Amino acid sequence: MPKVTLKDGISWVGVVDWNIRDFHGYITYRGSTYNAYLVQDEKTALVDTVKYNFCNELVAHLEELVNLDKIDYIIVNHVEMDHSSSLPTIAKLCPNAKIFSTARGKEEIIKHFGAEFERIEVVKSGDKISLGKKTLTFLEAPMLHWPDSMFTYIIEDKVLMPNDAFGQHLATSERFDDEVDQHVLMEEAFTYYSNILTPFSPLIVKKIQEVVAMKLPIDIIAPSHGIIWRKDPMKIVNAYLDWCTGKTVKQKAVVVFDTMWGSTDKMARAIGDGIASQGVDVKLLKLRGTDNTEVVTEITDSKAVVVGSPTLNNGMFPSLSSFLTYIGGLKPKGKTWHFFGSYGWGGGATKAMTAMAKGFGFEVVEQSMELKWVPTAEELKKCFEFGQQIGQKIKA
Ligand code: FEO
Repeated sequence: MPKVTLKDGISWVGVVDWNIRDFHGYITYRGSTYNAYLVQDEKTALVDTVKYNFCNELVAHLEELVNLDKIDYIIVNHVEMDHSSSLPTIAKLCPNAKIFSTARGKEEIIKHFGAEFERIEVVKSGDKISLGKKTLTFLEAPMLHWPDSMFTYIIEDKVLMPNDAFGQHLATSERFDDEVDQHVLMEEAFTYYSNILTPFSPLIVKKIQEVVAMKLPIDIIAPSHGIIWRKDPMKIVNAYLDWCTGKTVKQKAVVVFDTMWGSTDKMARAIGDGIASQGVDVKLLKLRGTDNTEVVTEITDSKAVVVGSPTLNNGMFPSLSSFLTYIGGLKPKGKTWHFFGSYGWGGGATKAMTAMAKGFGFEVVEQSMELKWVPTAEELKKCFEFGQQIGQKIKA
């Protein structure tokens, strides 16, 4: 592997997972990386490890730079398995290394990997470890996005390693922001935020404000997934502030639906036309053809979500249930929710979806549109008008 240097004595030793397409349900069309970093001074520290099936590759990268028994410290910024599942092997291969995590991290590591990790030393915000000329310091970041999460900052080099924050699921042969297509980079960063960090938006804003108040100069942000921000690290910080506070929400609606024999599809198209007639951007996304990852990303910068389902056995179609369960956990704020659907004899899909959305605390517009069998021309006109009203509400 060509050596990847962030700053003198700071190397990327991570791995590229080119072919992962399903990251615990998050569809990763562009793969991912698990970034780990080696910091070498009089003492040597490894910050994070990688997913277990790439452990050998991590070891090979480390051995190009250091004898493993010369690694003094292992920092566990986050316990989720994509970053820690190589820890048991690495800990054995680095017998002289002290291991550090937050208090919650220690609990979680012991539960994941066993009592041998009772020896972990706990660090908290502001604690420092001197490597010689370089000093590591820590900033706890609970619920960004696990209780154990923390950031590591190298004071003299002004390098922040915030683990999952500011990452992207993006496999590339390049490592830095100035080497890749900016549109692809920001698209993947936005998808990552939408699907992983949305529920923690207020905490992210608070954490960014905390870092700003500490006046930490930042030359490089080195997350645990994807590209490292060295040319313009504030680009992703400012983007997060905009995303978290809803600044990038547009006059846009997403019509997300499924269909059995085409009736709900026809309704979706008429509703979409009605929305667009008001000068509002609209996206129609059919489930069982579009994964939840993409739908959620499209919804993040939308003002309205219009959800359609045929009735199946008096309830909603299963793909809608999956979608609503997923987005119910992410709880995007500041959107209106509208429902429509078709049925043969009993109906029930819109009622079931409305009840589910209300249960999540979404702002549901009660007036829904449910039609029997195949919509007539007159009924499609009503769907168009339903869309027009949604468009007008967005523009208001
Ligand atoms: Fe990339 Fe929360 O793990």
